[in-house]
Amino acid sequence: MTQHLADRTQPTRGPGHDQRRDWWRDAVIYQVYPRSFADGDGDGMGDLAGARERLPYLADLGVDAVWLSPFYASPQADAGYDVADYRAIDPMFGDLHDADALIREAHRLGLRVIVDLVPNHSSDRHEWFQRALREGPGSPLRDRYHFRPGRGASGDLPPNDWESIFGGPAWTRVPDPDGTPGEWYLHLFAPEQPDFNWDNEAVRDEFRSVLRFWLDMGVDGFRIDVAHGLIKAAGLPDMGHTGQLKLLGTQVLPFFDQDGVHEIYRSWRRILDEYPNQRIGVAEAWTPNAGRTALYVRPDELHQAFNFHYLNTAWDAAALREVIDASLDSMRPVGAPTTWVLSNHDVVRHRTRLGGGIARARAATLLMLALPGSAYVYQGEELGLPEVTDLPDEARQDPAFFRRGPHGDGSGDGQDGLRDGCRVPIPWAADGTSYGFGAGGSWLPQPDGWGAHSVAVQTGDPASTLELYRSALALRRAHAALGAGDGVEWLDAPAGVLAFRRRGADGVSLVCAVNTGAAPAELPGVLTAGGHALLTSDGWDGTGPLPVDTAVWWQE
Ligand code: GLC
Repeated sequence: MTQHLADRTQPTRGPGHDQRRDWWRDAVIYQVYPRSFADGDGDGMGDLAGARERLPYLADLGVDAVWLSPFYASPQADAGYDVADYRAIDPMFGDLHDADALIREAHRLGLRVIVDLVPNHSSDRHEWFQRALREGPGSPLRDRYHFRPGRGASGDLPPNDWESIFGGPAWTRVPDPDGTPGEWYLHLFAPEQPDFNWDNEAVRDEFRSVLRFWLDMGVDGFRIDVAHGLIKAAGLPDMGHTGQLKLLGTQVLPFFDQDGVHEIYRSWRRILDEYPNQRIGVAEAWTPNAGRTALYVRPDELHQAFNFHYLNTAWDAAALREVIDASLDSMRPVGAPTTWVLSNHDVVRHRTRLGGGIARARAATLLMLALPGSAYVYQGEELGLPEVTDLPDEARQDPAFFRRGPHGDGSGDGQDGLRDGCRVPIPWAADGTSYGFGAGGSWLPQPDGWGAHSVAVQTGDPASTLELYRSALALRRAHAALGAGDGVEWLDAPAGVLAFRRRGADGVSLVCAVNTGAAPAELPGVLTAGGHALLTSDGWDGTGPLPVDTAVWWQE
């Protein structure tokens, strides 16, 4: 299945390419969800050729790097997070030549490329897992996963009480080669995603080799899926109770955030450091607190970790200030930048989630982009896209929907943990087939009127969310004060208002103020006389009280 490229020379760097050391410390990284970004061949499914054609849009938007969710060979049981071959592209996305062309074109445009690596589990169609099934109990291939006999007299109970993140037990029983009921295997996600056993050296060797394969292709880094899950507590001990989903990210669990994961990232860091131009690793780590997250980004481990504590914070000045401080304070001792993220392919889009419509979403974005560190933007948030909350059941593809049922995890987050609503293909054009997504349809139905959010409609309209993002990203590049450093200087502000100063090495100082309260707020002493609004999230002219759900960048 593995394809090979004749030419694996290092990509050339474009004239605009940022050669700064530590480019990643304040980088704005744009997440492309390939199946929903742009469809190059008109089959209704986004692909690498489509994404490559749209790279100039991303360069123009002003982001520094692109992170692509998985495009590897996969049966798509979990939208590509079930990888059957880590060195091949799924035909629905293209082939290795398309990947190579995309990486080169991105570099030519001055964009870095981060790919998704899925090391916690493979697809059940992966060659190793298939051989493990065929060869039966005792096969060395079985030790690359977690196979165990069942409990109970006839082994018909799962080996322990762990629950799958997508609902139901985390174990599935398979027949022995002779057809009789046999062992069970562990899958923290869908049954089509068997967990690797990271105590097996062959697994470790394989992933070191996969890292090198993509580094040799020229990628600038990896987003590491379920980075907190690779090591399981010895003996796979029972949790002792049900309802485990609610505990994810709140405490160290026998299957999440085990200390043994760090040794793996230290070995990966040594590989990343062998390559020129600072290749990075970004952990998707669900941890109980910012201090545990910081362990993933110690100087000899990964470079960044997603800050889900920030993403999960309500629209409330005091709560935001607390999480910002906790995030910055925990990263400072390890010398890693904090990251900020509001939306991704697993959560309700922040325009909908924060509960305040487009005004609040725009204010949240200006707040995020004024904080020191690196920020992540999920495709479509720059268009102000809302979550699509009325997808028909028959259109849904998220395995969480099928395993958890239509009411999802009951989290009440607007979609109850169901994820198709943030994955609806992007509108590029005002009208036409799939609103410019491609020449054919769209794998998830787009709502009527989706074209009103399109790139074509918003481009050039100074009041549009797209132009707000363009302006904000341009200012972030122009003003060293934004993004740089590892702290903010808080200013006294009325209740409900968050205000802080950022000073750049160039001597320019900026204030970001945001009103999360229920009434317009007077800001005496916050915005200096003689200064001026560089950018506001809603067209406020800098005089009078700061309106509700509005943020301002103020140059002093
Ligand atoms: C990560 C991905 C998510 C996927 C899961 C299993 O959380 O972001 O989309 O379903 O891992 O790979």
